[in-house]
Amino acid sequence: MKPPVAPEVIAVRSNGPLSGTVRVPGAKNSVLKLMATTLLCDGTFELSNVPDIADVQIMGDLLAAIGVRMDRPEPGRLTLVNAGEITPIAPYELVERIRASINVLGPLLTRCGHVRLSMPGGDDFGARPIDMHIAGLEAMGAAFKFSHGYLEATVDRLRGADITFDFPSVGATENLLTAAVLAQGTTRIDNAAREPEIADLCNFLVAMGADIRGIGTSTLVIEGVEPGSLRPVSHRTVPDRIQAATYLAAVGVSGGELDIVGARPEHMTMLLERFGDMGLEIDVTGEGLGVTARRRLRSIDVATLPYPGIATDYKPLIITMLSVADGVGIVTENLYPGRFRYIEELQRLGADVRTSGHHAVVRGVPRLSGAPVRAHDIRAGAAMVVAGLAAEGETRISGVQHIDRGYDDLVGRLAQVGASIDRSSG
Ligand code: EPU
Repeated sequence: MKPPVAPEVIAVRSNGPLSGTVRVPGAKNSVLKLMATTLLCDGTFELSNVPDIADVQIMGDLLAAIGVRMDRPEPGRLTLVNAGEITPIAPYELVERIRASINVLGPLLTRCGHVRLSMPGGDDFGARPIDMHIAGLEAMGAAFKFSHGYLEATVDRLRGADITFDFPSVGATENLLTAAVLAQGTTRIDNAAREPEIADLCNFLVAMGADIRGIGTSTLVIEGVEPGSLRPVSHRTVPDRIQAATYLAAVGVSGGELDIVGARPEHMTMLLERFGDMGLEIDVTGEGLGVTARRRLRSIDVATLPYPGIATDYKPLIITMLSVADGVGIVTENLYPGRFRYIEELQRLGADVRTSGHHAVVRGVPRLSGAPVRAHDIRAGAAMVVAGLAAEGETRISGVQHIDRGYDDLVGRLAQVGASIDRSSG
C-alpha cells in the first residue's frame, strides 16, 4: 500500500518590498465559458492565453463526457474538437466540482433541444440559485422539470424573447446569450451583466457568426442565426483582472514596485481609483500596469457591486489590505451575503475585523502575525497568501487546491518578484 500523500501547504514569510515583473494570464471566468460555448457548433476551436488552472481541466473533463475533446498542444493553448457527437447530459460528479458547469445549459439546449444537467451546488460562501437562468430560458419556450437532483429541459427550437433581469447575473446573462444565438428571432436582455468576461464571450460568439448588438452594455440584442451557420474560431482569452488585482494587493501590503504585464486597466477602472485612494501609485503602461507602494496603505470604505462596480471577487484582497492599513475601513458585500468566512482566518493572523450583517469593519493594525490558516475558496485563498506577505513569521496555508482552481502559479510568480514563499507537502 502506498503511504498517504500529505496535502500541500503554501508557506509565506514577510520579506520586504517586491520588485520586478509579473505576467497576468487569461481569465478563469472567461475561458471556462468560452470552452462551454464550443458545444454550439462542430469543428476545432483554438484558445490562447489560457491560464494553467485546475478548473480548466475540470471543464475539459465535463466537455469530454458530453462529446468535446480538449488538448493542450503547448502551455497557454487549448484545442477543443467538437466532432458533432454530443450527449447533452452533464453528470453530477463533474458538475458539482465547478460553478461554471452551468454554462453548458444554454449551448446544449439551443443546439440539441434537450439537456439533462445535475443541479450545480453552492459554494463555501453560500447558496447560488439559478432561477434567473431557468426563467429566461422558459421565456424562450423551454420546459423544465426537476427530479432526483437533475434538471431536465426540452424545447423544439428556442424563440427570441424580451428578458429583463432583476439583477445583472453573470451566469444567467451568459446562458441566455449562448442560447439566443441559435434561437428563432430576436432576444433582448435588459439589465444584462457587463463584466469584461461577458464582452469576451460576445466577441467569441460574433467571430463564430453570431449577431449580437450592445456588447459591453447592459442591453444585449441577439438576432438568432440558423443552426449550422456558426463556425469554430481561434480566440485569445481576455486577461484576468482578479489575478492582476492580487499582485496589486501583494505590493500594497509588502511595498515595492511591480510591472503587471497583461493587465487591462480599462477593465479595472474603479478598483484602480480606490487603490489609488489607499495610497498605491498606479500608472498605465504600454503593456499593462506599473504599481508602486511607498508607504503604509490608508483605509477606505468599499461596497461590492456588479461591474463596473468593485467586484465581490476583489473583496478578500481588499479586506486583507485594510487589515494592515492606517485607519478604519468599512466593507459592504452586496452579492454574496455569506462571503465572510475567511475573516476568521484573518483574525487568526491578528487582523481586527468585525462583521455585522453584510458589513465588515476593519481596523488596521501595523502588522499581522503568521499562523496556520486555511483557504476556503479561490479568492479567500489568494487573500491568505497576501496576508502572509504582511505577517511577521511564517503563515502556512492549507486548502491549496482551492487556490489552484483559479490561480496560475501564484507561488512561482510571487517568488520571482522577491516574496519568500514556497509550497510543499504538509
Ligand atoms: N443569483 C440568483 N439567481 C440566479 C443567478 C444568480 O439569485 O439565477 C444571485 C447569486 O446567488 C449571487 C448573485 O446573484 O448572489 C451573483 O450571481 P452571478 O450569477 O452574477 O454570479 P455567477 O455567474 O454564479 C460569477 C463568477 C463568480 C463571481 C460572480 C460575481 C464564474 C464561474 N463565477 O458567478 O466568481 O463572484 O460571477 O461577479 O464566472 C470566483 O471566480 O471565485 C467566483 C466566485
